[in-house]
Amino acid sequence: MELKNQRWSDEEFLRERGNVLSLWPTGQEIHLEEATQFLLHLPPEKNYAQKVVTAAHEGRTLVQPRGGVALVEDHIDLLLRLQNQGGADLLPTTTDTYTRNLKFPDAQRGIEESKRAGRSMLNGYPLANHGLQAARRIAASVQRPIIVLSGTAFPQLVAEMGFAGGFTAFLGAGISYTAAYTKDLPFTQGIKSYQYVDRLTSFYQEKGVRLHREQPGFLTGTLIPPGIGVAVGVLEMLMAAGQGVKHYSMGLCQSLDIFQDVAALWALKEVGQDYLARLGYDDVFYSLASHQWMQSFPADEPRAYAIIVLGGIIAALAGATQIISKTTHEAEGIPTKEANAAGVKTTRMAIRLLRSHRLPDSPLILEEKRIITQEARAILDKALEIGDGDPVQGALRSLEAGVLDIPWAPNKFIAGKVISARDASGAVRYLEHANLPFSPEILEYHREKIRERERRDGQKADYESAIKDITEISKMLEESEL
Ligand code: 5AD
Repeated sequence: MELKNQRWSDEEFLRERGNVLSLWPTGQEIHLEEATQFLLHLPPEKNYAQKVVTAAHEGRTLVQPRGGVALVEDHIDLLLRLQNQGGADLLPTTTDTYTRNLKFPDAQRGIEESKRAGRSMLNGYPLANHGLQAARRIAASVQRPIIVLSGTAFPQLVAEMGFAGGFTAFLGAGISYTAAYTKDLPFTQGIKSYQYVDRLTSFYQEKGVRLHREQPGFLTGTLIPPGIGVAVGVLEMLMAAGQGVKHYSMGLCQSLDIFQDVAALWALKEVGQDYLARLGYDDVFYSLASHQWMQSFPADEPRAYAIIVLGGIIAALAGATQIISKTTHEAEGIPTKEANAAGVKTTRMAIRLLRSHRLPDSPLILEEKRIITQEARAILDKALEIGDGDPVQGALRSLEAGVLDIPWAPNKFIAGKVISARDASGAVRYLEHANLPFSPEILEYHREKIRERERRDGQKADYESAIKDITEISKMLEESEL
């Protein structure tokens, strides 16, 4: 049957649920009625949606790090450090790669090896393997809400375990994570997986439990032109809304061009509102998340700090409700808990220093926002048109036609013909727009920006220079060092 943006019936959901819970024995520990009662009695400060709504209302920017280790006690220790030393407003539980790929026996071996080695031998917390009581012990040990971060197109069991365990938010969405984390998986499957997560969320919601869903925005993390990021975020929010989700946040990755990054978040806000209303989902609350630099970082600590500080500034100037923080260990791999807490603290300090300043409107930023808005609308309108008004079919058909395209994605079902590059001032432009359904005005805007760069450099911008742009920030040196 054709996948549609239609809320799954209870029967469909419960039938699928049987398969999900049988993926690993700990699935049998989860009972919806019991978990609902447990969640209804969770202290309000552990509720992610509540915290985000309050912050959005007060105009505050919440800092959320990433993090996860193999063993329960060590994970608690990490979260406490992020909370107490870093001052994190929202806490993470990043799952390991085996868990993300449903390789639970391998995750189990990773747990045993970590016990023997006395340190984490996994790159995240194996949420399914440790089971329900461990998750609840973690949630009980901290004073902040926890979000499950699992970069996967197979999120169902960890979503079940996370929610039932008292983690009140779940990150991920069907286009983004299928595009970024799988090579051969068709988008129908990734989207269906996240329909399950969204339907699970609304199942609890309808019993009075407010749970939050978050869209991961960074896509491939590699110079994503914001018009594409906005279109994907909005499509994914519409799909979540289609399953009955009421609390959502959409994110964008920073390109580190202050004006374009702020304009993009403002465009995201406006376009999101418009399409929710158009499709009749006005009762969805959503907020904006800004992801600190998602591409390669310099190994050098002071330079990495500069990127983190600028990230905090961008989120604050845009008035984003969340920022997802990075660390100075990014170039090396998984950060230590000390480095992770330091990344949070640095980000918070940058935000505090900006006090309540927002980037003032200027012709430059309004123009940039207008162009991003038009790009996103062009993609969304075409997607909805060829999808006969259905965002799920719209997403699938537009991906197939390259009307929606994502640069540098590993998934083979992405057209992959769009090439992005920076312009003279650092904003991300389309060197090649391929099949994106843009008007001549939009295309001319980008072409002129690229020409400016070519005049500055005295050479043509081509595929090679686009590739160079990808590693530029991690290699950026002072002139005196060149
Ligand atoms: N701990 C901390 N950060 C992590 N990331 C991934 N796994 C972990 C972990 N276990 C971060 C890295 C990566 C991003 C997607 O998530 O910064 O680049």
